[in-house]
Amino acid sequence: MIQPRDVVISLDRTATPDTSRQHYLRLDRNELVPHLREDYFQEILASLTPASFSAYPAVWPLYELLASSLGVEAGQLLLGAGSDWLIRACFDTFVDEDAEVVLPVPTYGMYAVYAKLRNARLTLVDHHASFEVPVAAIKRALASKPRLLALSNPNGALGSSLDAMTLLQIVEVAAQGDTLVVVDEAYVEYGNSDLAGDLANHGNLVLIRTFSKACGLAGLRLGYAVGSSELIGWLEQVRPNVEINEVAVAAGRYLLRNPDIIRDHTTACLAGKRYLADRLRKQGFEVFEGSANFVQVRFGSRHRQIHKALRDASILVKDQTGAGILDGWTRVTVGPTDVMQQVVDLIDGLGSG
Ligand SMILES: Cc1ncc(COP(=O)(O)O)c(C=O)c1O
Repeated sequence: MIQPRDVVISLDRTATPDTSRQHYLRLDRNELVPHLREDYFQEILASLTPASFSAYPAVWPLYELLASSLGVEAGQLLLGAGSDWLIRACFDTFVDEDAEVVLPVPTYGMYAVYAKLRNARLTLVDHHASFEVPVAAIKRALASKPRLLALSNPNGALGSSLDAMTLLQIVEVAAQGDTLVVVDEAYVEYGNSDLAGDLANHGNLVLIRTFSKACGLAGLRLGYAVGSSELIGWLEQVRPNVEINEVAVAAGRYLLRNPDIIRDHTTACLAGKRYLADRLRKQGFEVFEGSANFVQVRFGSRHRQIHKALRDASILVKDQTGAGILDGWTRVTVGPTDVMQQVVDLIDGLGSG
């Protein structure tokens, strides 16, 4: 029998859901809620032709547009099939076998997968029980000059975040040991720290961004890395022959040409987030709001009752049972207020169990 590498056997992966999530209210994976508006969708479709499907994609126009919207050179960007692919590219490009990788945990699960696939040594730094980022412990971990530090900011598992100044201090400490800092900004639109303007001064910093969250294109798989042209040049070396598909190019260009759409998505989600957090608190639940498009809520003794009722109503949320400091918490992706109202009304209507 053909056997894979030992490390592949040892990986612990989450199974792909066996049913489509399209007919659910999806509050479990931090996508855009409820989904991209129909008229925007139709406008994107109208820009496609049968040749869009049959010819290899023309990706350069998206590079140019993205570069001008970020105020960087096109050579400072690499597009990829979701930010997930770009994270992998960072590990494939910079992490040798047995190199040390530092991960503050909990965090986005794929960092550890890609580190293990490189046979790297993982140093895990725990977040505080309050979910705060362990800044001092991260700086201490940099003393051993690891190869790579991966920071999700805002953190995709917890929602906590660091301000730009603190992050840049970490990047500067990391520079002393030639550590590459990969800052995964999947939720940057919802928070308050944007490092794109600081890239020029930091040759050991790569930002990873996605069109999957605030932009509402998770199904199209579109993300990018932005960094110094030298770092991006190295990432280019591991790029597939063609990095993204033509539908993603068309949708990405449409959204970049209409930045109000992304702003409107974000504003509506943040209003819904305040509404959801307030109403959950009024019902007596502990809530952690964080800086992303989700809240964490602790349903306490009503955890099972509420999860069952949400499931029965075709509403998906993320149960964090058994997930370390997140044990007992539920992560709920936020959307506009009217959608959040359905969710809290349902919980309200259950009574106290
Ligand atoms: C922190 C973080 N990074 C990266 C990703 C991957 O996003 P995508 O590959 O859709 O761009 C996610 C997805 O949930 C995430 O939470």
